[in-house]
Parts: sequence; structure tokens; C-alpha cells
Amino acid sequence: MSDWYKKMSFYQIWIRSFADGNGDGIGDLWGVYDKLDYIRDLGVDGIWFSPIYPSPNADFGYDISDYKNIHPDYGDLEQFQKVLDRAHELGLKVIMDLVINHTSDEHPWFQESRKGRDNPYSDYYIWRDKPNNWDSLFEGNAWEYDSLRGQYYLHIFAKKQPDLNMDNPAVRSEVESILRFWLDMGVDGFREDVINFISKKEGFPNGLPFLPAVNGLPYYKDGPHIYEYNRQFRKVCEQYDCFQIGEGPMTTLQSALKYLSGPQKCLDMMFSFDHMMADCFYTEYMHRPFSLTKFKKAISKWQYGLSGKAWNSLYLENHDHPRIISRYGSEVFWRESGTMLATAYLFLQGTPFIYQGQEIGMTNIRLGRIEHYADVSSRTNFNRYHLKDSMAKRLHRIHVSSRDSARTPMQWDDSPHAGFTVPEATPWFYVNRNYKRINVKMQQGDEKSILNYYKKCLQMRKNSRTLLIGDYIEHLPNDKFVFTYERVWQDIHYLIICSFTRAMVPFRLPDKFEGRHGQLVLSNAGHSHGKEKIRSVGFLKPYEARVYRFRF
Ligand code: GLC
Ligand code: CA
Repeated sequence: MSDWYKKMSFYQIWIRSFADGNGDGIGDLWGVYDKLDYIRDLGVDGIWFSPIYPSPNADFGYDISDYKNIHPDYGDLEQFQKVLDRAHELGLKVIMDLVINHTSDEHPWFQESRKGRDNPYSDYYIWRDKPNNWDSLFEGNAWEYDSLRGQYYLHIFAKKQPDLNMDNPAVRSEVESILRFWLDMGVDGFREDVINFISKKEGFPNGLPFLPAVNGLPYYKDGPHIYEYNRQFRKVCEQYDCFQIGEGPMTTLQSALKYLSGPQKCLDMMFSFDHMMADCFYTEYMHRPFSLTKFKKAISKWQYGLSGKAWNSLYLENHDHPRIISRYGSEVFWRESGTMLATAYLFLQGTPFIYQGQEIGMTNIRLGRIEHYADVSSRTNFNRYHLKDSMAKRLHRIHVSSRDSARTPMQWDDSPHAGFTVPEATPWFYVNRNYKRINVKMQQGDEKSILNYYKKCLQMRKNSRTLLIGDYIEHLPNDKFVFTYERVWQDIHYLIICSFTRAMVPFRLPDKFEGRHGQLVLSNAGHSHGKEKIRSVGFLKPYEARVYRFRF
């Protein structure tokens, strides 16, 4: 398999909130088609579609009721083919979301499976007479009683997301057939949802009772047949020039390396989560103040840990996390922190992913009532934890943690509904009220905008072998306010300096750069570019970012 993905960057589309092309208030493939030039102009090389298949939307597409079709809200297969072909014409690869840990309970397989123990679909799911003590990650206990079948089925996520029984060879054949279906249409790869959960421990032992929500994790993460099953799927992908990135919730570096290298290699890349926990513990809901040291530790762990062995995926946002400016940056120093955060991750070693709206610095929405939130996990968290706190405090927790904070309609311009849909329509979800200040159109015309800064960064990566493939070296790891790292390839060194604070902070030059002439090639603070001898002790403005280039 070729490694074209190493030089790429991806744009993630969560279609429901991206662009509405037919005026019903819901994003769709007609809208996507119209925005393909925008995506190409950003300078990315590919698109990852979060699920666009038929789905009752209990988990907004991650509960699939037909793997080989398009949700009627979003278009049809013909329209998808048009988008795919046009994307290819523009030089963009397209990868699909593959969600095979579970289906929707409305999937015909489940509907059949419920009916009894002796039909062809009986063993497609995990049925037991007695549940164990596992919690679901999204909704209460992980087992739900089905009165038709007279048994309990396992759902690690929502009740409407029954887990597939991957130990059944027929289920694995279905997965192969799904892969072929989309690959034959011409898609270029898959982002594989919770792929480290698909093999469960035989016997389903009880989990540790003191680990609420994740007590079953040791028995369903990296399960006994995980590499075998994923190798089987890999074999199909190997027949195409296709790329696979797995989502690995709670994965460790050691465990990720097993998927990414060695004899059981079954994925090209993995989405890891360590760096997303610099202001929370395990889920955004367990919030704590942002710690740059934690962030740097996580980044360095993966940069060094995969170096020479595998390839990193780089991201700060997606449809599962609140907006990054609202978390690791500052809504007050909005432009500064938005551009700084871009600098901090786009120049790491790996393949960057940009989530729709991140490139214009969209921020979290704040909704007034829990009923206004659409995401099942936000509602559960609200009703599961901290019940004695005041309503205001509980809502605040949701505001900082909810996936919905990043699922608001894309802000295209300052017209009604931010240009996401036609003025007469009602968008399916709330538009952030800041859209008159934060939108694509305005930023396109502003040289200093976050949008144009992203473009610049992506262009710089493309033009530099050092930034694409160079080694990563972290400097001054104990600095609590500044993230400083180097990329080096042959005699070209880049030094990336990012301040994560609203205060003015002194910055020190790492010793090896002392007395050298560096060229400032990127600044988010309006410094003029040019060759200069950098002074070792200077000051960084709030959320300032600089990139220097050196030839040693
Ligand atoms: C992944 C998806 C998330 C979904 C979950 C269950 O984490 O990214 O959106 O809710 O899997 O499918
Ligand atoms: Ca629509």
C-alpha cells in the first residue's frame, strides 16, 4: 500500500451542519458539492465524511440503518458519486466513516435478530440471558432487555446502537462487502469508528465496579481477536490503493503501535486522545483547567513514540469535542489563539485533520436549557453526574463539554442563518450568535484572518520536506506557558514557538539556536518576515506564535 496519506491534510465534514443545498435546513451533498472549491482552496488534499448513511440519528449518523446507501436528508448514491468525482477532479481524496462496532437498532439485521434464536441474523448481535455489570458509555447499563427476543443485547454506546457480534464470520463478511461497495465506487479509504472495541472478551466478565461508565473497558478494548479481525478487513483494503485510519478511544501508545506496525499491522494511522485531555479527564465532562504541560507531554509522547515506526494523525477538533479556541485558547484573544493553535499542531510530524469551522475559529455555543441539546451523551452526562449542583453549574459543564458545542451550522457569511441555509428555512440546529463576527466570507477578504492563516500554514507544509517528514524535537519541556519544538531534516531546521497564555511571557531560545541567524517565516503577531539574529531573551505577546527557519 502506498503512503500518499503522509503528505496530505484532511478536512472533516459533519454533513448535517456543513451546507444546506436544497433549502430544508439540513446540510447535504448538494451543499457539499457547491463548497468543494472552498475546500480545495483551503489547501487540504482530502475529505473525511462523518457518516452520511441512512440513520435514525440517535447518534447523528453513528447509528447506521443501511451501510450501502445515503441518508435521504443528504442526497442519494448518484449525488454522492457526483461529489466524489468532482472531488477527485479537484485532486481531493475522499474517505468514509466505517462504523462497524454497532448498527442502529432499526437496521434490518437487528430487526431480524430480535425475532428469535434460529434465523440467519440471530447471531449478528450479542445476546445474553443475563447481563453483566458493564456500563454503557452513552446511556446507563450496557445491556437492554428486548421483549420480543426475551434476551438482553449489548450496547456499549446508546440503546439504539446494539453492538455487532464480530465473532460471527457472517458479520465479518458483511463488513468486507461494505468495504468493497464503497471502494468500488471509488472512495479512497476509511476512518474506522471505535475500531479498538470490535472484539469482546469471551465470557463477558464483570468489570471493576469503581470505574463508572468505563468499567467494562478492559474487556472490550483491544479484545482477543482484534488484530485478526482487522487484518481480515485490511486484506480487502490492500486490493485497492486505500488508506485506513482508526479511531482509538482510550488507546495507549503501546497498544496503538500494535495496530500500526509489526506483523499484525492493520491500520495506517490512529486517532489518539491523550492530547485532548489537557483540560479534562477521559471525557470533556470531567473538566479541569487547561495545562500546557499535560498537552506538551501528550504530544511529545506520540511524536517520539511513533517516530520511525508509524505515522501520527494530528487534530485538535472533530465532531466529538468542543471547539479548541474555547478550550485551549481564549475567546477574548480569539484571533491570536486561533492562529497560535493552528501553528502548534499543523507543523508537527503527521497528517493533519481540520474540522469544519475550525479554520475560521468557530467557538462553542452556549444554550440555555438542557432540552436544547441534541446529543445523547450530553443529556446522559447532565443526568448522570453532579446532580446536587445548581442548574447553572450543571449547564455550564455541558457548555464546556458538549459535542453539540462544535456541531452548530457552519458560518459562511453574515446573512440570516449564517448563510448555512436559505433565509426562509429553519436550520436543524442553533446557529452560534457570533456568526456576524465569525464567518467565512469576512475572513476571505481579510489577510490577517484565521482562515488565511490556515491556508498559509498548509502551504508552508507542502513546500517543505522538513515540515512534512522531518524529525520532531521538543525544547524547554518544563516551560508552563510556551510550547517550543523543532523539526529537522538534513540541514534545514524549523523552530516553532507558541505562547499559550494571555500574559506577556519571556521566551528563551534553545541553546543550539543561540547566535544563529534564523529567518522568521511565519508570525501571527504581525512581525515582519526576514532574516534576523534572534535574541535569546525576548517577549511573546498573548498567544503569539512564531516559526523560524534555520540552515545549519
Ligand atoms: C465515535 C464517534 C462518535 C460516536 C461513537 C459511537 O467515537 O466519533 O461520534 O458517538 O463513536 O459510534
Ligand atoms: Ca438540505
